[in-house]
Amino acid sequence: MSTHIGAAPGDIAPVVLMPGDPLRARWIAETFLDDVACYSEVRGMYGYTGTWRGHHVSVQGSGMGQPSCAIYATELIREYDVQTIVRVGSCGALTERLGIRDLVIASGACTDSSMNRITFEGLDYAPVADFGLLRDAAAAAPEAHVGLVFSSDSFYASRPELATRMVDHGVLAVEMEAAALYTIAARHGRRALAVCTVSDHVVTGEETTAHEREQTFGRMVEVALTAALG
Ligand code: ADE
Repeated sequence: MSTHIGAAPGDIAPVVLMPGDPLRARWIAETFLDDVACYSEVRGMYGYTGTWRGHHVSVQGSGMGQPSCAIYATELIREYDVQTIVRVGSCGALTERLGIRDLVIASGACTDSSMNRITFEGLDYAPVADFGLLRDAAAAAPEAHVGLVFSSDSFYASRPELATRMVDHGVLAVEMEAAALYTIAARHGRRALAVCTVSDHVVTGEETTAHEREQTFGRMVEVALTAALG
């Protein structure tokens, strides 16, 4: 096992779907996969492996925020030789071009995190999605918005007006993980993508119900599986 994942070598498939919420990982495995086995319960951050249309695939919770996501992405890649990670999560819409429950496929991720600032010693690095995954997800979901997200370290922003500046430069939505995931995948020569569903609207104040989140989550999982394996 690795430091935070209690799996034996070979327990985890080369393709991993990564929701923030470990209970979503269980729901995805139970709803979409066949022959499912739970490979890790460490810290309650569940991981499952099963098959989808005959392909092996795993689902691993990442927790919330870039430091937590970075731990799981790094260990999946370094310790279990995972090749492809697709984040499936929620985001907040930053522009009225987006509606509640819309799908956002993140072509790139801006961030206020210090993780890359430390890595690149103040230079700006542009974390981007794997092009093939991005192309295939966009083809699988013509209704989705494809563009930039803002991976913020703060759910409760101390200066929410800064997000407006992001919107003025084409950013569609705010979430909390994609920039770290894209950077770590690039560092190791692996593929990554983030597909998100709008769970709340920062401009209008609308929010989805738990039931709606579950239903719209399903579409996002189908798109992620199709892009990674279809
Ligand atoms: N994920 C879903 N909604 C969010 C928001 N408003 N801010 C950051 N992450 C989110």
